[in-house]
Amino acid sequence: MSLEIKDLHCKLADEDTQILKGLTLTIPKGEVHAIMGPNGSGKSTLSKILAGHDAYEVTQGSALMDGKDLLEMEIDERSRAGFFLAFQYPIEIPGVSNANFIRAALQARMPEGEELDAVDFYKNMYAKMDILEMDRKFTSRAVNEGFSGGEKKRNEILQMAMLEPEYCVLDETDSGLDIDALKIVSKGVNAMRSPDRGILLITHYQRLLDYIKPDHVHVMADGQIVKSGGAELALELEDKGYDWIKEIQAAA
Ligand SMILES: Nc1ncnc2c1ncn2[C@@H]1O[C@H](COP(=O)(O)OP(=O)(O)OP(=O)(O)O)[C@@H](O)[C@H]1O
Ligand SMILES: [Mg+2]
Repeated sequence: MSLEIKDLHCKLADEDTQILKGLTLTIPKGEVHAIMGPNGSGKSTLSKILAGHDAYEVTQGSALMDGKDLLEMEIDERSRAGFFLAFQYPIEIPGVSNANFIRAALQARMPEGEELDAVDFYKNMYAKMDILEMDRKFTSRAVNEGFSGGEKKRNEILQMAMLEPEYCVLDETDSGLDIDALKIVSKGVNAMRSPDRGILLITHYQRLLDYIKPDHVHVMADGQIVKSGGAELALELEDKGYDWIKEIQAAA
């Protein structure tokens, strides 16, 4: 059981700019992988393509989730099939309360005619908010509206904790979090590590990986994975930057 991305190429939907140029990556259930890489290398593009963003067009390659063709599915199907993306820049949804938003997403996962139990729902949500040390007032506020940067990131993790997806991509969830919040959010993510779940962390900083220890680390540059290794690779990158990777690439 895995999320298997093979030789993925994509371009912008409305022009001929190629962004992903043959990206191959497999995330088996039970593992945490991290992608690091320079700004503009295509990390967020990868996450958005997996989620179904229409700004991009896949021109070659595949993405299978437990054998199912993710790229063929509508956005809501991907979510119901167990895919989740925590956005680098979460959007605000005025007029929709956080609680109603999550409740609707959970309701949409239930069989026709079944109703989510409201008491259980709130009990579950409050328990998850407690882990994330989120104030109860965030249940009635509109999704992300006026949230601070760090509050938005924490709210993404609340959604993830509630939806219990099978494959999670976290795009720079650590950016904008203060030191205490980073620890709390990491605790929330670690609580979700499971043999039934694959997690992909996109990050620029080793610091996050001190708290969420990855099984594998990949370096992405110019639309491809150019190097993979264990957790120690992140330390090496912190130490040496990306230039030595570029040298390896140039020599190849
Ligand atoms: N919708 C778009 N329109 C125009 N250019 C785009 C679009 N989406 C991505 N790009 C370009 O594709 C490249 C990859 O962008 P992407 O956001 O995937 O990078 P990233 O690796 O996530 O960078 P960062 O580390 O800064 O978040 C960038 O040069 C970006 O400007
Ligand atoms: Mg990005």
